[in-house]
Order: sequence, then structure tokens, then C-alpha cells
Amino acid sequence: MLSFKWSAISMLSVCFLSACGGGGSGTTEQANNTAVFSAASSAVDAQLQILIADQGLSGDASSGRSLPNIADPLPQLGKLLFFSKSLGGNFDAACVSCHHPTLGGADDLSLPIGVDATSVDQLGIGRVHTSGEPIVARNSPTIFNVGLNDHSMFWDSRVESLGKEVNSNGALSGIRTPDSALGVADANAGDNLVEAQARFPVTSIEEMKTSAFENGSSGDVIRTHLAARIGDYGVGSGELLPNTWLHEFQTAFSSTQTASDLITFDNIAKAIGEYQRSMVFVNNPWRDYVNGNTSALTDDQKQGAILFFTSTNQGGGGCSGCHSGDFFTDGQHHIIAFPQIGPGLGDGSNNDFGRERQTIDDADRFRFRTPSLLNVAQTAPYGHSGSYGTLEDVLSHYNNPRRTVNNYFNDGGWCQLAQFSGLANCATLYPDAEDNTDDAVDALRVEQNNNTTLFDNINLNAQERSQIIAFLSALTDPCVIDRDCLSPWIADPTTTGPDGNQLNAIDAGGGLL
Ligand code: HEC
Ligand code: HEC
Repeated sequence: MLSFKWSAISMLSVCFLSACGGGGSGTTEQANNTAVFSAASSAVDAQLQILIADQGLSGDASSGRSLPNIADPLPQLGKLLFFSKSLGGNFDAACVSCHHPTLGGADDLSLPIGVDATSVDQLGIGRVHTSGEPIVARNSPTIFNVGLNDHSMFWDSRVESLGKEVNSNGALSGIRTPDSALGVADANAGDNLVEAQARFPVTSIEEMKTSAFENGSSGDVIRTHLAARIGDYGVGSGELLPNTWLHEFQTAFSSTQTASDLITFDNIAKAIGEYQRSMVFVNNPWRDYVNGNTSALTDDQKQGAILFFTSTNQGGGGCSGCHSGDFFTDGQHHIIAFPQIGPGLGDGSNNDFGRERQTIDDADRFRFRTPSLLNVAQTAPYGHSGSYGTLEDVLSHYNNPRRTVNNYFNDGGWCQLAQFSGLANCATLYPDAEDNTDDAVDALRVEQNNNTTLFDNINLNAQERSQIIAFLSALTDPCVIDRDCLSPWIADPTTTGPDGNQLNAIDAGGGLL
């Protein structure tokens, strides 16, 4: 949508460009300093306007979708479930343990801590596993804007829309999950990708289940037991006291059904899904700019945007080759070769083969799904294993992956990261990390030599890198850094929830999150 303002700007800049282009229309002697300044900035705006039009951007990845409002009954129920440790097998982990609204929709950690934390309700830096080291292999992605995703959930897309229809959030053509074969719809996936995803964390020993609960049982047995626990019937009878969940479910679903009919895991996943889908945080300065407010961005942010959307052979960063569209992702899987740290997923030696784990095709080794970049300034650390602590590190990696990775390991690797720096045994934690990362960089190098990657060699100077970072910060919705604005998505900390097991999160200093 191009406003009146935009057309005025492009006319101005056309004058400016022709005056400066040696066309000799001869008005330069009339230009005073102010006119030169505004002409220069409108030239930048004009250049960016062309890129915006080329990319077909509206600035708002939420437009054209039907998404719930947090004030609606189902998201309200979903919020209570999301914050409840009763969905943790051993009552010590909730969804919110790794995805808190005030922590960017994630947890501020490189690798999350789910079950067996030394201090169950403490989130963020300082949260530690009783073993002393994290046991979950991948970084927690943000849950903000997950309702805008039409492709897949997880770094390896193991929950995946079969048709990927635009604006559908996976609702139209079936969803593959780890419970079905690749390319085959899971009949129990539910209505959309977010609902489908919510079926899986509760079955993970490291994230929520623990090995003590339903040891060796199938996913469905685990889910059925948890639903019966919440609903206080059958195998779960008497596990929660107090228990007012039936009242909550009847209100949210506007139903008079009994607990065993209403409190099923399908309905639990639906409510949790609607809570997350109500988290639409797209009201950022970039959107204002695309909609015609030229003062919404600083000059550095505009220059950064130009670099972001310009291909490498034209002197840009080529970022939008993969971080494309208003949601800043192509939904595809690429080799980027960020350092691979952590326990890994049983591939090779503590390695993570990424998308290959799903397709069983070694051409997919080290490929991960392109993440959205909305609110990215609030979602550090970065990458599938959270190995880079800052956007500066990420930009340095894109500039020169080999050198950045070498420097990373020479400078102490993961021990530079806040989560690990205090651990006495830090240096010896991940002996295979450097070799595994080198393998990924080698795989990237092969693709670059064969010209089969969109990750070209780029050569941005320090100023250009900082301009791109400035642009990325313009993708932050001010609401996500404002506790009051986020409060509708945070369970009321003056209560303990329907069963006394609500996780009212605190930070390392004991302050309420
Ligand atoms: C131990 C921390 C932890 C807990 C607890 C947890 N998650 Fe996650 N979550 C993660 C990690 C790690 C990933 C990425 C895993 C992967 O890609 O393999 C993830 C991925 C997701 C995603 C996908 C986002 C995307 O863009 O792909 C959603 C949505 C999500 N979690 C929601 C939930 C819900 C709902 C619950 C509770 C039922 C939950 N999580 C519990 C750590 C956690
Ligand atoms: C070839 C496709 C591709 C290109 C080009 C690309 N990216 Fe990425 N980007 C990805 C993928 C895939 C990941 C996830 C990699 C991983 O986790 O191992 C990623 C991750 C990121 C992250 C971390 C996000 C997070 O939530 O952890 C940032 C920031 C980022 N890219 C910014 C950029 C910028 C800036 C550029 C341009 C200089 C760029 N990307 C170019 C595909 C790409």
C-alpha cells in the first residue's frame, strides 16, 4: 500500500536524482543546506521504496489473517495452561519455563532448561539444571507471531504444513508431525501449526515430562494421562488439589460437557495454540515506514534496510534472499554454519544434522529453517543452538563464516556466553563442538564454490554491519519490551492458578518477571 506521502517523496527524489545525474537542469545553485539534506534523505527513501515494491512488502505480516485476541475466552484458558506446571510430568516444568513474554517469548538462554531446574520458577540467565549443564539440545525460539507462520514449526520443521497456503497457518491441507511420516498428515494434528506443535513438548523427557512420568509410554498415553490429570478423571484422578479446571474449560469452550469429554488433550492443545496465536507483535517502526511515515526510521536504519534487501552482487548483504517477505523468512532450510554447541541430538558425536533428521537425505545435513526476524533484537542468543550472543556476532559470521567461527573457538567458544561463563567445568563441556562446526562450514564452502547457496560471500564494512543491526532493531514492536503492555499475556501473578501449580516466574534477583 503506497500512501500519498510516498508518491510525493518519489517525485521529489526524481528531481533530486536528475539534478545530480548530470542532466544539467541547473537548479543546484538554488539549493541551500536544508534542501540538500532533505533531498539526500529522500533519495534514500526513494531507493528503499523501490526495494519495498520489488519485494512486494506491506510491512505487516499479520494482515489478511484471522487470529484470536488475548481477551477471547480460549486464549485466556490457553494462558492458564501455558503457565501451569501440571502439564510437566513431575510438576516442575511449564511451557512458560522456556517461553516467557518478558524474555522475548523465549528464555534468554542459549540452551533451555526444562525439567530438574535447581530453582523451578526462576527463568532466564541463572536458571540451571541440577546436573550443572543444559540437557536440551536446541535454542528456544520465540513464540511471538507464531500464528503468522504458514510453513512449519521447529528448527528442522518437523511440524510442517503440507500445502503451506498463504495466510493459513497450516489450516488447509494437513500437517505432518513427528507422529506421522514425512509428507503425511497427522490426523490428530488439529487446526493449525501452533496447535499441532503444542502436542510435543509434554512428551519430551528433557523439556517437560521427566523419565519418572509415564516412562516408556507412547505420546498418546502421555497426553491422555495429562488430560485426565487436568480433568481429574480416570488415570489422573486426584493428582491435583485444588482443581477448578472444569469450570475454566466450560467457560472457555462455552460448554456444559463433563470433564472426560471436554478436557481432552486435543482441547488443551487448541487452547494453548489460541493463546500463542494471539501474540501478534508486528507494530514496529519498519511497518510505519512501509506505510509512508518516513520519519519512523533513522538514517542508519534506512541504510541498513537498503543493505538488507540488496543482493550481494549489487553491494548489499543479500539477507532478503532467505529472510524474505513481511515475515522475514522463506520457510526453507539452509546451511548457515553457526557454531554447533551443546549435547546435540545423537547425530555423529554430539552433533545436530538439522533438516536431515527429518528427510533422511544427507544433502539436508546442517540445514535449519530460516527464522523470522520480527523482534529479533529481543531474542538473543541466536541460532539453532544459541551459540552467538549478539547480532554483531551474527553479522560478523555472515561476513566471514570461517574466520568468525575460528575466532569464536579461539576466544573461548560457548564460555563467552552468559549462560556458561560462570560454570567451573565450562571449557571441557563440548569437546566436539569445534570439529562439528568445521564440518558445517566445510559444507557451506562446498555450496558457495558450486554456487548453490543464497549465502554469498559478502563484504560489509563495520559501518554497514551496524546499519543492518540498526535496521533489525526497527523490527521490534515496542510492546514486547514493556511489561505493562505484555501483562494481558502473563498469568495473574497474584494467584496460583486453577490448581496451585501456576508458574509465577522470577528472575535471578527474585524479582517478578
Ligand atoms: C525446555 C524448554 C521448553 C519447554 C518447557 C517448552 N518449549 Fe517450546 N521450544 C523449546 C525448544 C528448544 C524449541 C525448538 C526445538 C526444535 O526446534 O527442535 C521449541 C519450539 C517451540 C515452538 C516452535 C516455534 C517455531 O517458530 O518453530 C513453539 C510454538 C513452542 N515451542 C511452544 C511451546 C509450548 C506450547 C510448550 C508447552 C506445551 C513448550 N513450547 C514448552 C523449548 C521449550
Ligand atoms: C541462505 C539463507 C540466508 C541468508 C542469505 C541469510 N540468512 Fe539469516 N538465517 C538463515 C538461517 C537458515 C538461519 C538459522 C541458522 C541456524 O540456526 O543454524 C538464520 C539465522 C539468522 C539470525 C538469527 C535469528 C535467531 O532467531 O536466532 C539472524 C539475526 C539472521 N539470520 C540475520 C541475517 C542477516 C542480517 C542476513 C544478511 C546479512 C542474513 N541473515 C542472511 C538463513 C539466511
